[in-house]
Amino acid sequence: MSQDTNGSTTTAAPGSGGAGNGDALENLLHEGRQFPPSAEFAADAVVSAGEYAEANTDRPAFWARQARELLSWDKDFSQALDWSNPPFAKWFVGGEVNAAYNALDRHVENGIGDRVAIHFEGEPGDTRSYTYAELAEEVRKAANAFEALGVAKGDRVAVYLPMIPEAVITMLACARIGAVHSVVFGGFSADALRSRIDDAEAKLVVTADGTYRRGKPSPLKPAVDEALTKPGHTVSNVVVVKRNGEDVNWVEGRDHWWEDTVSAASGEHTAVGHDSEHPLFILYTSGTTGKPKGILHTTGGYLTQTAYTHKAVFDLHPETDVFWCTADVGWVTGHSYVAYAPLVNGATQVMYEGTPDSPHQGRWWEIVEKYKVSILYTAPTAIRTFMKWGRDIPGKYDLSSIRVLGSVGEPINPEAWMWYREVIGANAGKNGETKEHPAPIVDTWWQTETGAQMIAPLPGVTATKPGSAQVPLPGIAIDVVDEAGESVPDGHGGYLVVREPWPSMLRGIWGDPERFKDTYWSRFEAMYFAGDGAKKDEDGDIWLLGRVDDVMNVSGHRLSTTEIESALVSHPSVAEAAVVGAADETTGQAVVAFVILRGDAPNNGDATVLELRNHVGKEIGPIAKPKHILVVPELPKTRSGKIMRRLLKDVAEGREVGDATTLSDPTIMSQIAESLRK
Ligand code: WTA
Repeated sequence: MSQDTNGSTTTAAPGSGGAGNGDALENLLHEGRQFPPSAEFAADAVVSAGEYAEANTDRPAFWARQARELLSWDKDFSQALDWSNPPFAKWFVGGEVNAAYNALDRHVENGIGDRVAIHFEGEPGDTRSYTYAELAEEVRKAANAFEALGVAKGDRVAVYLPMIPEAVITMLACARIGAVHSVVFGGFSADALRSRIDDAEAKLVVTADGTYRRGKPSPLKPAVDEALTKPGHTVSNVVVVKRNGEDVNWVEGRDHWWEDTVSAASGEHTAVGHDSEHPLFILYTSGTTGKPKGILHTTGGYLTQTAYTHKAVFDLHPETDVFWCTADVGWVTGHSYVAYAPLVNGATQVMYEGTPDSPHQGRWWEIVEKYKVSILYTAPTAIRTFMKWGRDIPGKYDLSSIRVLGSVGEPINPEAWMWYREVIGANAGKNGETKEHPAPIVDTWWQTETGAQMIAPLPGVTATKPGSAQVPLPGIAIDVVDEAGESVPDGHGGYLVVREPWPSMLRGIWGDPERFKDTYWSRFEAMYFAGDGAKKDEDGDIWLLGRVDDVMNVSGHRLSTTEIESALVSHPSVAEAAVVGAADETTGQAVVAFVILRGDAPNNGDATVLELRNHVGKEIGPIAKPKHILVVPELPKTRSGKIMRRLLKDVAEGREVGDATTLSDPTIMSQIAESLRK
């Protein structure tokens, strides 16, 4: 780890050996650049290097201090951490805290009610700003409205909304009354929504008529209607936000317009403290098996670590900064760094509804210039897309307000990192001026399961390296271990693990404690297994190398190979399917499916492929549609019947096929190659 702040650049490169993923790793091996913080930045940074020493002396005590400094507790806790029954942790035992009060009302009481909490920018160009006082009032109204619809503490609420302020209002209103929200990304299908509603037994669904996508209305309500057609669900009410004004189907007695229920409700509502371990939300994510897992987060620990990391990693100065996290609230990044942390920290943030290219490819930079965004948090896939569009586009805007840049969701390749620094971070105005000290980049590694950032440089402390998330955050115990669970020396690779419990860790998988233990805690004794490969370089800095399991990462979205295979096999024409994530220049990975059709099913070429793609779209959602579907006569299997995805990946990535000697039929790969040539 390098905490060098004196301006020198060293040339340490990550060592060799251990887990790796081909070419990308080779490039990383030659990456030796380092960028220490400027003296000015370091002098004004909210967190200094001393924090590591304090945190690592007594982790629970460090987190207890953060919990008390960053949050207002209705009842103080008596114990920082109870780890007497691992892997089931309890943080801030006996404490009581209300998330919505902490995000909103207390700021009003503390005299910053007039500060803008959210600058909302709709895709068609409509805008709305909410001050803390206004947003607090909306949340109290929503809390009253949901209670009037019979939602009580502990009940589950499914949220199927676009990126509009009502999404945040709904989440915080649930938190206020102790109801557990389960946000389902708007890109998921009716079937996926229904299975999530059923798994959590949601009582209420909050949705919108629709949103806008690339200038056109894009519906949401029809998916809710379709999800609820089959009987046997637990939903008694649906609240509908009017967003794009398109006609919607209406079920009397079940459906209620937001403006008739929420907007009409009283703005008086008293928040009570909930137990620190009270469930805050469930968020479904893909794992290695077909069924998505409902990741459960609770209140006190989650709020503490999201707020701490938001402050420390982005060097947040809430009085002056304008924060913009581009993630959708349907993903964990949108939970932790849109709905919760920025508000708990009293910051001003931007929320944007649409795509980066609507109505033109400069839309994001126009937004940065307009609101003087100072901290931008986005994903490598977006950065690579902007690289493709060209540096002239951001060059037309004044991005000089930017002082910290964040990255999340997948490993960021050094070229994308350098582009981000030079084109966005160094922009000092639209006339091509550049900054002497470009904005530092913080690459943040974390997961739905970890709840908050776990590995990241601190921008005023760490000399950053293009492509590396580098250092575990203060109070976080990360390691890289070999197959046997032994810590690897610097210069080697292996599996990423967390050695000690952390405040925002998942508390379980909804309704399935065994699966929680099996998935995360059984691979290595007494360690959390993240599912990522990683490497320590000669300085001990960590480089993430991608998933080591059957989880793919497409544009920073997690997709399971098994889940897509199950969707394909559920089509009457498909006998068998194997899915791999193939390297893709823009999206990181792309879904490539190999299918065997049933004997009696016709192969109509492109029409069959189109039908199968749409079928996956219907079963899971448009984001899961394979980029390529290849119809093949056979799949490569070992003698024990396991599909050798490694060989299919070679085909999908256009490489020479690797060692195929363990196949039950060694001629399969040439048969596949032959069938693809046709
Ligand atoms: C990957 C998103 C490398 C990783 C917050 C992890 C990353 C999965 C990074 C979690 C990063 C996330 N560098 N890889 N900075 N951030 N990942 O649950 O494989 O949607 O396991 O959470 O994304 O994805 P999830």
